Amino acid sequence: MTARIYNNVPAHPVKSFFVHMLTRDISVSDAILDLLDNCVDGIIRKNRGKKEGAAPYKGYKAQITIGKDSFTIHDNCGGIPWSLHEYAFRMGRAKPDQDAGLPVVGTYGIGMKRAIFKIGQSCLIQTQNGKDAYDIELSPAWMRNEDEWNIPVKAAKTRMKADGTTIVVEKLNKGVAELFSDNAKSFCRDFEAQVASHYAFIIGKGFTVEVNGRAISPLPTKLAFDKSKKTKAIRPFVYTTRTNGVDVFLAVGFTRPIPSEEEIAADQVEARYSSLDAGWTIVCNDRAVLYCDRTELTGWGEAGVPKYHTQFIAISGVVEFRSNDASKLPTTTTKRGIDAASPLYLQVKNKMREGMVLFTNYTNKWKGRELVQQARSQIDDAEPFGIEEIKHNVAKLRLSHVKSRLRGRQYKPTLPMPAHAAGDSRRISYSKPIAQIELVSDYLFESDGHTPSLVGERCFDEILKEARK
Ligand SMILES: Nc1ncnc2c1ncn2[C@@H]1O[C@H](COP(=O)(O)OP(=O)(O)OP(=O)(O)O)[C@@H](O)[C@H]1O
Ligand SMILES: [Mg+2]
Repeated sequence: MTARIYNNVPAHPVKSFFVHMLTRDISVSDAILDLLDNCVDGIIRKNRGKKEGAAPYKGYKAQITIGKDSFTIHDNCGGIPWSLHEYAFRMGRAKPDQDAGLPVVGTYGIGMKRAIFKIGQSCLIQTQNGKDAYDIELSPAWMRNEDEWNIPVKAAKTRMKADGTTIVVEKLNKGVAELFSDNAKSFCRDFEAQVASHYAFIIGKGFTVEVNGRAISPLPTKLAFDKSKKTKAIRPFVYTTRTNGVDVFLAVGFTRPIPSEEEIAADQVEARYSSLDAGWTIVCNDRAVLYCDRTELTGWGEAGVPKYHTQFIAISGVVEFRSNDASKLPTTTTKRGIDAASPLYLQVKNKMREGMVLFTNYTNKWKGRELVQQARSQIDDAEPFGIEEIKHNVAKLRLSHVKSRLRGRQYKPTLPMPAHAAGDSRRISYSKPIAQIELVSDYLFESDGHTPSLVGERCFDEILKEARK
């Protein structure tokens, strides 16, 4: 028997892995958000070295057209420099330091290609950067051909009005064609809502995103901040640090007056607070990677923080991570989630919980009809401010130094507490027949659905009013 000769074994990538497999882990909307991320990264590269200011993305635009046979995204964000042609169209980043020193989010060198493969089988990329203007075509045959890894390039026939990129995808994949035709309206509505939340910071800083001709309005988080000189007042808890090349800014507080128990019992809260923005939003280099999370991922129901419940609907928080090295940001590879195991995130989460407890305690202490009314007027006295404005407001306050493992500076507000909160109150409880409770409930309230404890409390409040006369 002749001995087998062992040659080298092939380990080169298989194209269908990129075209058909990698695309399974991402939704169509998230894939499109990846294309939007590229637009913003384009602006950041273009603005390199310029001062940031309040509206660094002003004048830049991405126009998305979702049709039943095609998908188009057109931007004026600087185009793909020819100097990057050897890297930009490859799967994976062959030049990892391409964006050294810039707060971009592009890291892996896959987003654009994965989005194209997710959407359809044929694509034309037209791009213009300075004097270079070229077209790149990905055909269905190219996507199938395992041996062809080069893509033909042609000089553009016409010039664009401004440097930018247009990506047109046709021959839509089956599931995508269904999404874009039958359900186009509901798909667009959901996608627009996603842009409004995840891109709120970027749109707030001047960027325009249009979907089928409609500009998206951002849904920014605003927190109540009492600018008066009162020591006990409604202001957010703020924490800030810089560690290992990442800047962190955290703010948590009230977005609106706290709900009354009657509203909670009657399920009126969600209807009244229609744009449900309770919970934590985590932002990495201006992109929200998590929006209004109310789970353990952001500390709810963990280590002394109660589980999220409608009574906490007025509590919202934002954490911004910013770095000139995107790989240091605590986000997942799809960049639409947080890396819950990141040591940096875990340390910041301690601060998130510390801040959150102040506001869940406040909500618990100001329970009961009369107290809620007082709490509401305290929150009403404070004005709502966006995150950039909060940074500005807080700079005028005295921040204390935090000497724990994650050193930093923080502002811990002293929230007003009810006079009797220190333990000079007692619980009253008694039983009454259901029929009588319902009768009294009908007598006291205009609507149905009030809990027995609310009925009892209302009886007490009414008699207290009488007694005080
Ligand atoms: N709209 C655009 N404007 C300017 N440059 C772009 C645009 N789209 C893509 N590029 C260029 O193409 C490159 C490849 O984009 P792609 O999204 O595939 O990867 P990436 O952004 O580098 O990393 P990631 O996979 O993390 O998104 C980018 O790094 C960028 O240089
Ligand atoms: Mg990208």
